[in-house]
Amino acid sequence: MQILAFNGSPRKKGNTSSLIAAILEGARSKGAVTTEVRLHDIDMKGCMGCLSCRTDIGKCKQKDDLSPYLEKIKSATGVVIGCPIYMYRISGQMKLLVDRMYSLYANLPQGGYKSMVPAGKTYALVVSQGADNADLYQKSIRYLAGMTGSGLGMKEVGRIVHVDSHQQPAQRNKNLMDFAFTLGTKMLEI
Ligand SMILES: Cc1cc2nc3c(=O)[nH]c(=O)nc-3n(C[C@H](O)[C@H](O)[C@H](O)COP(=O)(O)O)c2cc1C
Repeated sequence: MQILAFNGSPRKKGNTSSLIAAILEGARSKGAVTTEVRLHDIDMKGCMGCLSCRTDIGKCKQKDDLSPYLEKIKSATGVVIGCPIYMYRISGQMKLLVDRMYSLYANLPQGGYKSMVPAGKTYALVVSQGADNADLYQKSIRYLAGMTGSGLGMKEVGRIVHVDSHQQPAQRNKNLMDFAFTLGTKMLEI
């Protein structure tokens, strides 16, 4: 049982990182082996637009540190996506991953897409933002969940939209950290 987390925040001790850590701890408490991919820290390139994934279906031709993790999505039990809001949208690091995930979608002859990720996986989402209004970035959040989770056929176990507060960062909000831990335990319930 493998849970794979992709972290789109560059801050090792930031909100997204703390919440992902709690989710992964919850997953490990149920016997999962967990891996966190810190997108900011790996040598990762954007999609090169070669479209080879339209014919060599499910494979991304770009070879870099992300490549093995893109492949690993297909065999993982569940995937966690965590990302801060930067300039009203997902962070640049996360957008590079989303674009590379195009390789996990195959075109259907009648139009639309089919996921190349085997069915039966779980998915959890963490977003952290500065603005108080948790509804403000729903469009970006729906987009992120759609591209990286539901669009690939994964079952969402839950999501966290955290509002950053210097008085109480995520790691000091016990209820939220407990909730994140519980989400992690659900990642193994397929
Ligand atoms: C470059 C940059 C742009 C940001 N843009 C926004 C924004 O548009 N809206 C917002 O609510 N917060 C914005 N923030 C605040 C972050 O989303 C917020 O601090 C978040 O908690 C950071 O998550 P992290 O601790 O996981 O890195 C921005 C922060 C940075 C560094």
